[in-house]
Amino acid sequence: MTELIFATGNKGKLAEVQKIFENTNFKIISLYDLGDVPEIEETGSTFAENALIKAEAIFNIHKMPVIADDSGLAVEQLNGDPGIYSARYAGENCTYDDNNKKLIKVLREYDTPHKAKFVCSAIYFDGANKITAVGELPGEIISEYRGTNGFGYDPIFLPDGFDKTLAELTTEEKNKISHRAKAFNKLRTQIEIR
Ligand code: IMP
Repeated sequence: MTELIFATGNKGKLAEVQKIFENTNFKIISLYDLGDVPEIEETGSTFAENALIKAEAIFNIHKMPVIADDSGLAVEQLNGDPGIYSARYAGENCTYDDNNKKLIKVLREYDTPHKAKFVCSAIYFDGANKITAVGELPGEIISEYRGTNGFGYDPIFLPDGFDKTLAELTTEEKNKISHRAKAFNKLRTQIEIR
């Protein structure tokens, strides 16, 4: 069993990634297990740069193999916004609800459908090797909240081909299609064949 620290303080992501690695040869250690969830400043200009910043910061503290991700929502009519700023779209220390409300309001100016995609850039770093993988999930933003599962923009994101939002799916169902599941499943395969 190989232990991997998942460099996130986001409990929604943690629950998903723990499930993705269930029944594999990897054990996911969370920052909560380690009793130290540092705030890491995301100063990169891409998802990939921010994922690396998180992985390196946590590796430097614990000197153990780390996985990390940076992810967000890219809305076509907003030229890819909120993108890397997805977590703080409505301002520093805002809530998921603040972000969803702001996005719905901004998109009122545009015709429907509001095509969008979630992007996840995942990375493995063990001090010597860096492995990266990307996953995307296309869909659209709707103007009312549906469902209470998941986190972030899940209640207003309808994945292509589904009549349920991500927040109306269970974690297992979301993990069959999500950007994060795609990225981490690819990453896991690459770590395994390394
Ligand atoms: P990060 O922690 O810097 O990667 O920020 C990711 C942000 O993007 C989250 O706070 C959410 O706002 C949004 N996001 C990323 N993945 C998801 C998802 O699977 N569902 C809903 N929102 C997501």
